[in-house]
Amino acid sequence: MEQDLYQIVYGSVATHLFEKEELLTLLRHARENNKRLGITGMLLHCEGSFIQVLEGPKDQVATLFQVIKQDPRHHRISVFVEELVKSRAFSHWHMGFRSPSLEELAKIEGYTPYLDLGDDPRAIQNYSAVALKLISAFKEISD
Ligand SMILES: Cc1cc2nc3c(=O)[nH]c(=O)nc-3n(C[C@H](O)[C@H](O)[C@H](O)COP(=O)(O)O)c2cc1C
Repeated sequence: MEQDLYQIVYGSVATHLFEKEELLTLLRHARENNKRLGITGMLLHCEGSFIQVLEGPKDQVATLFQVIKQDPRHHRISVFVEELVKSRAFSHWHMGFRSPSLEELAKIEGYTPYLDLGDDPRAIQNYSAVALKLISAFKEISD
């Protein structure tokens, strides 16, 4: 068992429309960094929003998350999960990635775009369940 294994799951809104090539460039860079830092996880890009799982040694995850939070390419960041975990959920991916289509998203029961939540803290808190559902749904498809 790895010591001090930490997981953060957050949602955010892209500040502009990401073209596929821009997402791939971001991912390439993220994967290189994450490999060096021992960080694994998954990034979902859904209708102009991001949901990301970061997992790895606590200090590395916390430091990277501080950097990611400052990134002007997204904003309205909300943390859904932040906790010590016993094992990694994405041990094979330095950053898995999926950008599901609207049709795929519509099949997820209870799905609403993170983008539409506004600032209501209760709605954001409730969105945790949707975020975790999306992660597990698209993790299976990618496996
Ligand atoms: C939605 C989103 C997710 C990101 N995920 C990661 C990541 O997993 N790892 C990473 O190193 N950078 C990630 N970044 C980029 C960082 O914010 C930052 O630009 C990068 O870590 C800087 O790397 P550098 O110090 O090598 O220039 C992400 C950015 C965004 C907008």
